[in-house]
Amino acid sequence: MLKAGRVLVPNFQNRVLLGIATFSGMLLLVFWIAVNEPGRMDVFTQQYHGRSIENGAATFANNCATCHGPDARGITGKAPALNNPMLFLKDNPAKVAAAKLSDLQNQQNTLKSQIDTYNKNTQDLAAATEALKKAAPGSADETALKKQIADLSNQVKNFDLANTQKQLDALTPQVQAAQADLDKLKAQGWDPNRDTRLAEVKWGGRLEDYLTSTIISGRPVSAAYWPQPMPAWGQQAGGPMRPDEVQDVVAYIMNFHDMAVNLTPKDVNQQFKLPSEGGAAAANKQVLGTNADPKALAQAGLGGGDPAAGEALYTSLACGPACHLAGQIAPATKGTYTRIVNERLKDPANANKTPEEYIAESILKPNAYVVPGFTAGVMPQDFGNKIDLQDLKNLIAYLETQK
Ligand code: HEC
Repeated sequence: MLKAGRVLVPNFQNRVLLGIATFSGMLLLVFWIAVNEPGRMDVFTQQYHGRSIENGAATFANNCATCHGPDARGITGKAPALNNPMLFLKDNPAKVAAAKLSDLQNQQNTLKSQIDTYNKNTQDLAAATEALKKAAPGSADETALKKQIADLSNQVKNFDLANTQKQLDALTPQVQAAQADLDKLKAQGWDPNRDTRLAEVKWGGRLEDYLTSTIISGRPVSAAYWPQPMPAWGQQAGGPMRPDEVQDVVAYIMNFHDMAVNLTPKDVNQQFKLPSEGGAAAANKQVLGTNADPKALAQAGLGGGDPAAGEALYTSLACGPACHLAGQIAPATKGTYTRIVNERLKDPANANKTPEEYIAESILKPNAYVVPGFTAGVMPQDFGNKIDLQDLKNLIAYLETQK
């Protein structure tokens, strides 16, 4: 402690003290920096992210707005909205509301049918009691009636009518509320029969990756149902954009999240629809349907498809991305044709089939022959409703390149 008036002389003791103080100060400084570094890094990251979004916004305005709209809410007949609740939401609220309503209605129906059974049992009991009065004593009739009466009275006695009725009454307002919720959502344009975008295209991964891969590769097959298909933008796929530019535009779209989840389908243009679901070109697309006969199609000729278009379709129908790429859920894409020729067609179950017929059958009627080791019914059964004859030829041409 320094007393007032005393001069601080840099003697030995004071120098030691000064040394300790300086050292402690330095420790504190290092500690302070260590504690604050993550925060500073966060700020840098945010600034970087902010710049990425800004760059992405500029790229979007220059390259994407002509089709997807300056506000990314889509342009009717040109391209679907990206600032779109169906793209960002995990679940379609109308589908959830419809499921809730139908669950409540099921409960209601169960209780109602229990009460109906009770009423019927009471009537039957009265009738049997009447009949017993007329039955000849000691007759087989009498024995049967007595048994019936015993059974029925047991059931009637064991049923808690008041409580069941109470449960049923309690459900009524819940059903009404659920119905009102659903009606409100429908009025906002939500369709309870549709899935969100990623579920619809069966994309199991993150939205960010879906956007990235769509932007890089485009969707050439969408020419079938949009006047101008989504082009491939990534340099990897022969487009004009560098990977960092793609990343920036993805950051820009991801940034719509908070706005998009509060929009309704009525706020945005052109929800994406597959042709089979009445999309833009459903009118001029002659889908094969699920009853198409692979043998007849093969006899009429399934050659001459375009493998590149087939590959694009293979991706957009999510055949590869969802199931066949890794070869765990379904046989791997690579080697498909070799396996067909060397293994599948040697199986007596496939006698007299050509590779074309075999592939057509596998796409249109997947359960007709299930590759040993895989499960029937996993492959969607409705591709016939999504593709036309040319699509089928293209898919076959593509799979024939998979040796
Ligand atoms: C020539 C018109 C056109 C341009 C320009 C265009 N797109 Fe597209 N885009 C489309 C069409 C059409 C679709 C719908 C494709 C489909 O239905 O398969 C689409 C689909 C998409 C999708 C998938 C949407 C979904 O719900 O699956 C994304 C993401 C996308 N575009 C991003 C972009 C970005 C980013 C740009 C600018 C770099 C861009 N698009 C430029 C026409 C265009």
